Amino acid sequence: MSRILLLHASVEGQTLLIAERIAKVLREKAHSVELLPADGDPSRLDPAAWDGVIIGASIHYGHHPAYLHKLVKRHRAALAAKPNAFFSVSLSAGGPRPKLAAAQRYIDKFLRKTGWTPQLIASFAGAVKYSVYGPIKRRVMIVFVGLGGGETDTSRDYEYTDWGAVERFAHDYMQRLAQG
Ligand SMILES: Cc1cc2nc3c(=O)[nH]c(=O)nc-3n(C[C@H](O)[C@H](O)[C@H](O)COP(=O)(O)O)c2cc1C
Repeated sequence: MSRILLLHASVEGQTLLIAERIAKVLREKAHSVELLPADGDPSRLDPAAWDGVIIGASIHYGHHPAYLHKLVKRHRAALAAKPNAFFSVSLSAGGPRPKLAAAQRYIDKFLRKTGWTPQLIASFAGAVKYSVYGPIKRRVMIVFVGLGGGETDTSRDYEYTDWGAVERFAHDYMQRLAQG
């Protein structure tokens, strides 16, 4: 059994849902998982205290959050010393008209700026959650999503995450763990 730190940087909750699914898969195989927000108490976020680390973050306005850049830069060496993985969540990664090259660029930019080379990387489609956006964000998203050919009926939310891909990622990570 390994002790895994699973950090999530989520604004509207989809990255958290994905992290929870990954945690469930790991726990089913008897691993112990601590699921924490990446902007939480810094004293609990040191990868050195864990057997492995997974970090997931969503994209807003073309970027993963700035605080995550700082966290990864600070702990880069400790991260590299453990089985480590990263997943990115965006609308470019899936949905009605995916823009896979853009999703990959977000990841490449994040890894280039932080200097981190995760052993495992995944890009998951997120969600459009009109029900949780405030009025300004809703307007922004109607335009952004509409330009991309997506759903602009704000009376409901839209989830594009491929849960099978999320579970495969969790299993791939456990293979890394087994390799040490
Ligand atoms: C204000 C806003 C800006 C966004 N900007 C982008 C973007 O630049 N590129 C993209 O692919 N997805 C973008 N998205 C889509 C999010 O990545 C997607 O909704 C994701 O599921 C959010 O994850 P979270 O709920 O964990 O924060 C944006 C979403 C919002 C609400």
